[in-house]
Amino acid sequence: MKELNINGYKEQIIERSDYPIEKCKEILNDKITAILGYGPQGRGQSLNMRDQGFNVIVGLRKGSSWDKAIKDGWIKGRNLFEINEATKKGDIIQFLLSDAGQIQAWPEVKENLSEGNTLYFSHGFGVVFHSDTNIIPPNNINVVLVAPKGSGLTVRNHFLEGRGINSSYAVFQDFNGSAKDIAIATAFAIGSGHLFETTFEKEVHSDLTGERCVLMGLIQGAFLAQYEVLREKGHSPSEAYNETIEEALESLYPLVSEKGMDWMYSNCSTTAQRGALDWAPKFKKVLKPVINDCYEKVVSGEEARISISSNSRDDYRSQLDKELEEINNQEMWLAGKQLRPLRPENSNN
Ligand SMILES: NC(=O)c1ccc[n+]([C@@H]2O[C@H](COP(=O)([O-])OP(=O)(O)OC[C@H]3O[C@@H](n4cnc5c(N)ncnc54)[C@H](OP(=O)(O)O)[C@@H]3O)[C@@H](O)[C@H]2O)c1
Repeated sequence: MKELNINGYKEQIIERSDYPIEKCKEILNDKITAILGYGPQGRGQSLNMRDQGFNVIVGLRKGSSWDKAIKDGWIKGRNLFEINEATKKGDIIQFLLSDAGQIQAWPEVKENLSEGNTLYFSHGFGVVFHSDTNIIPPNNINVVLVAPKGSGLTVRNHFLEGRGINSSYAVFQDFNGSAKDIAIATAFAIGSGHLFETTFEKEVHSDLTGERCVLMGLIQGAFLAQYEVLREKGHSPSEAYNETIEEALESLYPLVSEKGMDWMYSNCSTTAQRGALDWAPKFKKVLKPVINDCYEKVVSGEEARISISSNSRDDYRSQLDKELEEINNQEMWLAGKQLRPLRPENSNN
C-alpha cells in the first residue's frame, strides 16, 4: 500500500505486492468467474485470468465473439457457454458486453443471478445512468467495478509483455462483506498494475469526459485544426503531418510520459520552450470552458442518452463505419498512411 500526498490530497494506492497472485487465488478460486462479452475488455481480461490459473468461463451469444473465443481455445460446454448458462454457473459475473449490449441483455442476466453473487463492471455507465439503462442490481448481491485505464487490447498486450495497466476500483454494494476483497483480487487477476479507489459516479464522469476531451475528441480536433492551418498557409502535407502528428507521437509525447511536461520542454530548444510557455495558457483559457461544458453534459446524463440512442440503432455499426471512414479519408490521415511506412524501422532501405 502506498500513501500518496499530492498537494495535501491523500490517497492510497494498492500495489501488486499487497495482493500477490497466490492471495488472489485464495480469494477467488473457490468461485467461478463468468466473463460475459468478448470485446477488447472481455477478451483481454478472460485470457489474462486463464493464463494466470484462475477459474474462469466465458458467456457469449453465438456470432463473431463466439467464433473469436473458439479460436482462442475456449471450449464449448467446458469453459464457453451461452450468456444465460454462464451467468447461472458463475459466482462472479463480469458484465463486459458493450454498454448498449448490457441494456439489452440485462433482463436475462438479472434473471439468472443468485443471492451472494458478485456483479462486476468495468464502467459505471449502466448502473449510474439507470434511469436510461434500467440496470438496477438486486439488493442480495455484491456490485463492484474494476476499470482498466486503457483499451482491452492494451490490457492483454501489457500482460503478455509482463507489464500492467493501472485500474480504478469501486464497491457499489457490499452484500456479504467480501465485495472489496473480490474487486481487488479480480483486478490483479486480470493483470492490473496498481489500483486507485473511486466510486461508480466518479469513474463514469471522469471516463466519459476524458474520452470526449484530451484522450480522443480533443486531440483529433486539435490535430486537424493545426494541420488545416498549415495546409491553408501553403505547407506541404509532409510538413504539416510531421509538425502536427509525427513529432508529437514519436518524439515529444513519449518524453512527457517518461518524466513529465517540464522534462519534455527542457529537451526542446529555447525558442520552442518560450513559445510553448507563452501559448499554453491561451489554450487553457479557451479549452477549460469547453471541457467544463462537456463535464456538465456528462453529469446531466445528456451524453449518456446520446450514446445509448445512437448505439442501440440497428444501423449503428454501418453508421459508425461510415463516420470512421470519413476520418480515415481526411488528408491528414491519408498523409500518415503514406508516411508511417517510411519510418526507418519500417523501411527496407
Ligand atoms: N475499450 C475500452 O477502452 C474500455 C476501457 C475500460 C472499460 N471498458 C468497458 O468495458 C466494457 C466492454 O467494453 P469493450 O470495449 O470490451 O467491448 P465492446 O466493443 O463495448 O463490446 C463488445 C462485446 O459486447 C457483445 N454484445 C454487444 N451487444 C450484445 C448483445 N445485445 N447481446 C450479447 N452480447 C452483446 C459483443 O458480442 P458480439 O461480438 O456477439 O456482437 C462483444 O462481445 C464496457 O462497459 C466498456 O465501457 C472499455
